[in-house]
Order: sequence, then C-alpha cells, then structure tokens
Amino acid sequence: MCGIVGYIGKNNAKDVLIEGLKRLEYRGYDSAGIAIVNDQTKKKVSIVKAVGKVAALAEKSQKRALNGSVGIAHTRWATHGKPSVANAHPHSAGRITLVHNGIIENYQELKNILIKKKHIFTSETDSEVVAHLIEQECKKKNFEDAVYATLKQLKGAYALGIINSDEPGKLIAVRNSSPLVLGVGDGEYIFASDPSAIIQHTKDVIYLEDGEVVIATASGYTVKTLTQKIRHRNVQKLEWNDEQAQKEGYAHFMLKEIFEQPHAIADALRGRMEIGEGLARLGGLRSVTDELREIERIIIISCGTSYNAGLVGEYMLEEYAGIPTEVEYASEYRYRKPLIDKHTAVIAISQSGETADTLAAIREAKRKGALTLGIVNAVGSTIARDTDAGVYNHAGPEISVASTKSFTSQLSILVLLTVLLGRQRDMSFTMGKRILTEMKRIPRHIDTIAKQDKKIKKLAQKYKKYDDLFYLGRKYNYPIALEGALKIKEISYVHAEGYAAGEMKHGPIALIDKDLPSIIIAPKDSVYEKTVSGIEEIRARRGKVIVITTKGTKELEKIANDIIEIPKTLEMLMPLLTVVPLQLFAYHFGVARGLDVDQPRNLAKSVTVE
Ligand code: M6R
Repeated sequence: MCGIVGYIGKNNAKDVLIEGLKRLEYRGYDSAGIAIVNDQTKKKVSIVKAVGKVAALAEKSQKRALNGSVGIAHTRWATHGKPSVANAHPHSAGRITLVHNGIIENYQELKNILIKKKHIFTSETDSEVVAHLIEQECKKKNFEDAVYATLKQLKGAYALGIINSDEPGKLIAVRNSSPLVLGVGDGEYIFASDPSAIIQHTKDVIYLEDGEVVIATASGYTVKTLTQKIRHRNVQKLEWNDEQAQKEGYAHFMLKEIFEQPHAIADALRGRMEIGEGLARLGGLRSVTDELREIERIIIISCGTSYNAGLVGEYMLEEYAGIPTEVEYASEYRYRKPLIDKHTAVIAISQSGETADTLAAIREAKRKGALTLGIVNAVGSTIARDTDAGVYNHAGPEISVASTKSFTSQLSILVLLTVLLGRQRDMSFTMGKRILTEMKRIPRHIDTIAKQDKKIKKLAQKYKKYDDLFYLGRKYNYPIALEGALKIKEISYVHAEGYAAGEMKHGPIALIDKDLPSIIIAPKDSVYEKTVSGIEEIRARRGKVIVITTKGTKELEKIANDIIEIPKTLEMLMPLLTVVPLQLFAYHFGVARGLDVDQPRNLAKSVTVE
C-alpha cells in the first residue's frame, strides 16, 4: 500500500520526509521518491526517486542539494505498471508535482483525452494522469481551482499531495477513500497516510474525511469540502506510541488486516464491475479475451490459504460459468504428469506471487502449453510476470503471517472472473447483474460482522481451553471450514480439523465427545437442512457446537451452544462473510492463549523454498 508524506513549515523538508517514509516502510512498497521546492530558486522543484528501499532514496538524496521547507514524498506499492524509477512517485507535469495513493478508475479514458491535447507521459501509472489534468486546468485557472476542476473528473480512490512550482509556498492535500492524516505542528504541517510518520513531530492531528481538501501554507491551513466550503475540524490528540501508530491503534497487524477487509474488497472491485450490463471487466485479462472464450477446463494451483480460495472458486466457476474446474496443491501438481491441452487454463493464486511451489507448477503448466493466468496481490512479483495474463488483488501489503484480507480479496477476484467467463458463455444478463449487485454489498456486510468482535472475543475466551477443534462446512463453505481450521492451527498451535460436514458419519464422528467442540458453518443455503442434521448428530454425542449462520435462523438457538450471525447474501458469496468470524475467532483464541499472532512460530510470510 502506498505511503504519502507531505511537509510545509520552517524545517528542512527533506529530513522530515525521509524520516516519515522510513516510518511508513511497514506498509510495504517497492520504490520511493521525494520532491522538494528549492528554497533558493523557489520556482524549481527537485525530484529524486529510487527503486527498492527508502535507504537507497536517502543515499541518492544526499548527493543532491535538496534545500527547502516544502515537499512531498511517497513509497509506492505498484498497481499500474511495474516497480521502476519512471513509475515511482512523485509525478510531474509542467509546474505540477504530486504523490498519489489509491486507484484512478478512469485514468485510461482521461489519459487518451490528454494525449490528444499533446500531453506526454513518462510512466505507466494512473497517478501521472492526475498531474497532467491539474496542469491542463492550470492553463485557465488558479492552482486551487485547477485542483477542484480535476477532482470533478476523477473516479476512484485517492489521497493526493500536490505542489506547484508557480506557487511554491502552498501544499494542497486531498482525501477520497484513501487514508490521509494532517499533523498540526508549531508553524509546520505534515500530511501522511497514517500517524506513524507524524507522531515524532506532533501529537495534534486531524483525520481527514472523504471529500476533504486541505490548503496549507507555512502560516496556516484551511480544510474545505469538495464544493469549496470551509469546514471547521477539531484537532485531536494522539495517544499512541510509534508502534501503535503503525498498527493504527490495533493490537496486532492481523486484527488491523481483518478490519481492513471491506476496504480491500472495495479496492479489488473498483472499476471492474459494470453492474448495469451485468459484466465484469478485468483489464489484466483483456489481452487473452479470445483464448478465455475457448477454455474448456480450468486448473487452479496454489498453497495454503490461497488454495482454500481456489476451492471456493471451483464451486463458483462450475456452477455459474459452467467450466469444469479442479483445484490442486501446487506442491503436488508440479510432480504429477499434468494432462493439459490448449483449451486448459491454469490459474495460479498467490498473495506474495513468490511461492516456490506455485511458481514451479505454473512454469510446468506453461511448458505443457496451457494458458497460464495469475491472481496475485504483489505487483511485479515473479508469478505475476511469469503468467500469460492476470489480475491483481489490490489488497495492499499483508504484514501478518496469517492471510486474512488477501483471502477475501482473492474470493472477490474469483467472483469477477466467474462473471466474466460466465457472461462469455451461458450466464444471463440478469444473473450477472444480480451477482455483481450483491457483491457490491459485501464490504458493508463485513462491517456488520466486524461489529460482533467483542462477542467473538468472549467466545474465544470461553473455548480457549480446548486443544482440539473441528471445523465443518458443506459446498461453498467446505473450503471455509478448511480455512478456519488453518487459521487456528497457525495462530494458536492447536490441533484443528477442517472437514466436509457430510463426511463426518464416514469416520470422524467417532472422535466427537464433550472435549471436542465443533465450529459449524451453516448459513441458510441449499445444503442448510443437511448441515443441521450433522449438528444434531454431534449434539447427540455431547459435542459442543458453535454455529455460524444467517441472521434470523431462530431454530438453531435450541440446538447450538453458541451462535454467530452473518447477514444474508447469495449462496456463492457466503464464504466472503462466513470466513470473517472464523478469522476473528482464531485471532482472539491465539491472543487468549498468550501467543504472538502476527509472527507464529515456524512460519514465514512468503514461502520461497520448496
Ligand atoms: O503468497 P501465497 O498466497 O502464495 O502463500 C501461500 C501460503 O503460504 C499462504 O496462503 C499461507 O497458507 C497463509 N499465510 C496462511 O495464513
């Protein structure tokens, strides 16, 4: 996730900005850059950029005379275009220089218009388009009005820090769906994506709201709305220390990332749904549109949590796109003799894009002539580069070893892929529209579930004494049982078994007694009655049962020991909701057992060895 810092005041901006970027490093990035309005020449902005660490940028900056008290800086987590100096921020167009965090959905359309007006672009980014738009508007308007005129044309999410070499004493910052905080110091103002880059200068902050624009000079600041009305915002005191600031007040990155899911899903969907037409648009697959039409079989290869996402995808793709789909552990697939023909698409799902087994498997599939596709979070990663085409999750970096937001964003992409492939085949316009309409509601539904955090924490405390747990689900929620069990294992080091609920009576039910609680995922779906029979069988053997079910399923109150409710949605989208209480349960279970949930023993975030 990109990080922004901006400074205007009395001190050397370079030092403040580089230090700020260092404090934002935890967010993950692949390149960094800084722009300073030169104190002597005033009308000149100096820019330095580097691929890799902030330390590399700091070293490069040492060699340049960057003397000034106004500047902006950025760490880039690539979304549009590979990590490179050209794509790194700040981006300039004439007098305008800016940094951007977020995604401009309509950048291609705007870029085409600007190219016709003779603008020359030097990067592949969506962000550079914003700089050119403001520059274009500045031809007829003053700086502030030009920014406003530009904002009216942008679709998407953005936090922006903008400077203008013609007005060197001014810094404009904007927030719309991407975070931005203003630090109010003594004769100095600092903007940053989160307070960790501000806290060493001042604890007085304003969390900007969507649609707010700040115009700052060294002598003061004004907060305005999108309609240019002045808004009076109260300054609030930060009570956090440095480490808490990075976690934005959450006790652990895992909890922060669970709560970030509504945002991560919205980012995965942004600009990719044409609800009115019932269509999904995945720009990364455009080059293979014709090949996708010819696909007769899909093989999904992945590991761990990404494998569980693939299993949900199998149900979706078969039921709604009508394409036979298999899911394989990458570590197994690479040693098989894969039977592939030119109508087979092999899809690698990977958060890191660097998992050795997944990479080896996708290379093997490619050698055998399959069309290879990637669903990857890390832009520019090896799997993203080695596949024929692919889709990025845009979930931002996931720091906690346990995958949470990457899982639900992978599911979101699989929903879009199902609609895309389905609509190329038999799926009706009405069905496409229905799926996308419901999908759009998922972030709000997750917010509702997250509000039950306290209740789930209590449940985790109640069950923390158990050393074995069963997770059961059917159909779309069978993979969620696997994922719930995986989360408990890795966070709590407790034995947990994920099972297909219908398989219980074929053996595992022998394990059930009062010391083995079961967590059963039983939303009101097409297999609800069957799952309920399973619950009865467990209760009859004195097994304790926690049920995840749809809101208003009263009859379960009589048989379950504990119930967690989720909102109603389409059956195929249920996994996006049912997994959230399981993530929270695993998190609180691990914390209750006194463990380091962000860095569980023996595990690495990215498994780059076989
Ligand atoms: O980066 P990937 O998605 O390829 O990683 C695959 C697994 O190692 C990963 O999903 C792992 O199972 C999770 N971090 C567990 O929470």
